[in-house]
Amino acid sequence: MEFEGRDITSIEDFTREEIDHILKTAKIMEPIAAKGSDLLHGKILANIFFEPSTRTRLSFEAAMLKLGGNAIGFADAENTSVKKGENLADTIRTVENYADIIALRHPLEGAAKLAAEFAKIPIINAGSGAEEHPTQAFVDLYTIQKEKGKIDGLKIALIGDLRYGRTVHSLAYALSFYNIELTLVSPESLRIRREVLHAIQNKIPVSETQNLEKTLAQTDVLYVTRIQKERFPDQAEYAKVKGIYRIDLKTLANTKKDLTILHPLPRIDEIAPEVDATPQACYFQQVHNGVLVRMALLALVLGSVK
Ligand code: NCD
Repeated sequence: MEFEGRDITSIEDFTREEIDHILKTAKIMEPIAAKGSDLLHGKILANIFFEPSTRTRLSFEAAMLKLGGNAIGFADAENTSVKKGENLADTIRTVENYADIIALRHPLEGAAKLAAEFAKIPIINAGSGAEEHPTQAFVDLYTIQKEKGKIDGLKIALIGDLRYGRTVHSLAYALSFYNIELTLVSPESLRIRREVLHAIQNKIPVSETQNLEKTLAQTDVLYVTRIQKERFPDQAEYAKVKGIYRIDLKTLANTKKDLTILHPLPRIDEIAPEVDATPQACYFQQVHNGVLVRMALLALVLGSVK
């Protein structure tokens, strides 16, 4: 198992053993995150973000600072040479001179893989269009394991925009390494991408449904997602599914008492604020875990932890 110098562009590049090692390393980061450290002293992370972000960018930055390194970057390409017409490959071949590792978020699918081909330093995919968001999947798994004490044996439901939600694709690939049952709840027009379904359905039992109520009573982990308005080619199609699912206290009446509710955030209207105070709501713990998992990834890829 070698992490040093590796790109993190897709969950499909990892084995279960490697994923478990990342989760174990994130656990080791818990006390380090509380105290700070100089494990990555002198190292620089470049966050280059061509799409909006709150959690992913700031948690990468916080993770680097907690490990004693530094972070540079941009959150808005409008203020960079991209505005003058510079292409992604040239941007990458420039930024790699200023940093030891790059976290890239880009609206185009395949952007992280393209960047990895050009870069001499490791590329972490911080979201590539509707395709993948692998580091979020590690955060999601870590949170499930922490809340439930295990991943194997669980009944997990993913609900919402399974077509355009990149976190869903990475998480579905990641969960297919575990012995779980997966239910995919979405409107017909937002069913999960066929390529993802084909890749996972030979490995774990998967069912697709539009009916949340029928699924809920059995579910151990409910992973709720936002309808990805900005990715719809036609806003009339968005209008048809907007607000289609909403988790509120009434919904929770028919669930297991120890249900765990996750959401990669940002939330719009798919989880009512009244749910936040319930013990089932774990999405802000997920945010907290984001720093630990990204600390683990940075330390592993930069070779300061084995
Ligand atoms: C998500 C994303 O950017 O894909 N957010 C995140 O990184 N936690 C989810 C979303 O935008 O809905």
